[in-house]
Amino acid sequence: MKKNIVLLPGDGIGPEVVNQAVKVMESINEIFGHEFNMTTELIGAASIDETGSPLTDEVIEKCSKSDAIVLGAIGALKYDNDPSLTVRPEQGLLKLRKSLSLYGNIRPINTYEISKKSSPLKEELIDGVDFVIFRELTGGLYFGDKFKSEDNTMASDNCVYTKIEIDRIAQLAFEMAMTRKKKLLLVDKANVLETSRLWRRLVQEMSAKYPEVIVDYMFVDNAAMQLMMNPKQFDVILTENLFGDILSDLASVITGSLGMLPSSSIGVNTAMFEPIHGSYPNAAGKDIANPFATILSVAMMYDYFNLPWEANCIRNAVEWAMSKKLVTIDLNKDDYLLCSRVGEYICLYIEEEGKVSINLSNLVSTII
Ligand code: IPM
Ligand code: MG
Repeated sequence: MKKNIVLLPGDGIGPEVVNQAVKVMESINEIFGHEFNMTTELIGAASIDETGSPLTDEVIEKCSKSDAIVLGAIGALKYDNDPSLTVRPEQGLLKLRKSLSLYGNIRPINTYEISKKSSPLKEELIDGVDFVIFRELTGGLYFGDKFKSEDNTMASDNCVYTKIEIDRIAQLAFEMAMTRKKKLLLVDKANVLETSRLWRRLVQEMSAKYPEVIVDYMFVDNAAMQLMMNPKQFDVILTENLFGDILSDLASVITGSLGMLPSSSIGVNTAMFEPIHGSYPNAAGKDIANPFATILSVAMMYDYFNLPWEANCIRNAVEWAMSKKLVTIDLNKDDYLLCSRVGEYICLYIEEEGKVSINLSNLVSTII
């Protein structure tokens, strides 16, 4: 399979983790016979430093023509604590999401054996946790009109949602629910917000098309508490932009490290794959960041390309590395490897395991 991929390493640890993902794609493609034409472009603070803009029109154009985008991370310390700045790295990411209509952000949350040690939650609470957050990514407070009074004493962000925006992500979530436990939970604040009441009405309407799916509702404040008290109850969570942002960081506590959570952002013409974590500026250049979230995001990309064998091969490699404690410092303080070494081990495993699975996949296609 031939694909055009745009790499957007971005800031902080972004380039380091994307490098590992590139190595993984190269190993997979070598074994399974795919050809990816990968080009690297600027976004975020790296782009501001070079061009003055967090994302140029040329890069948007290249991304929109690509089959997929792999993004590292966005953000730099010098922009974080100065609210007076008008150009900020994060604007690049938001512009990209909006320009490419990357509306459906999918964030799976799983636990592994190693999570039992690294998560602050009790082992019996997290063992077997497996749910997916569907976060709407191009609407709500992030993109509504913003206002700041001239005397700087008043500001507002408008929260807007339309039926089209809600329906398209709700449909993705219902489809996913059909392939899982046929349960869908809408997380909102319908006791206070008009937009939440619109979400509820539209999700209720759509549920008529999916009679097998049991739809439930939970207020976001309660959902935050339930995520920590009883995370096993969740399966498919559907929610709006800001709630999804906050709940997914919270959910990472269950896994044990923010460095393990991948995501995909489904758009109208293309899709983007990125770790949930930020740019972790203090670790930049030290080769200590956890590459699993980016590598697992690339696994989601192979799924998106309809290449589940390749995706599973990557997931198996990550699970194997964790089981052998071939992990970065966030997962094992006493005995850890550098980010690039973890990447190398993953590739080694893929080269071995891949040979097995390619034979199996050939076998399956001959049987079919
Ligand atoms: C995320 C991030 C972004 C967001 C930031 C970097 C703008 O936190 O992808 O979760 O808030 O969406
Ligand atoms: Mg976030």
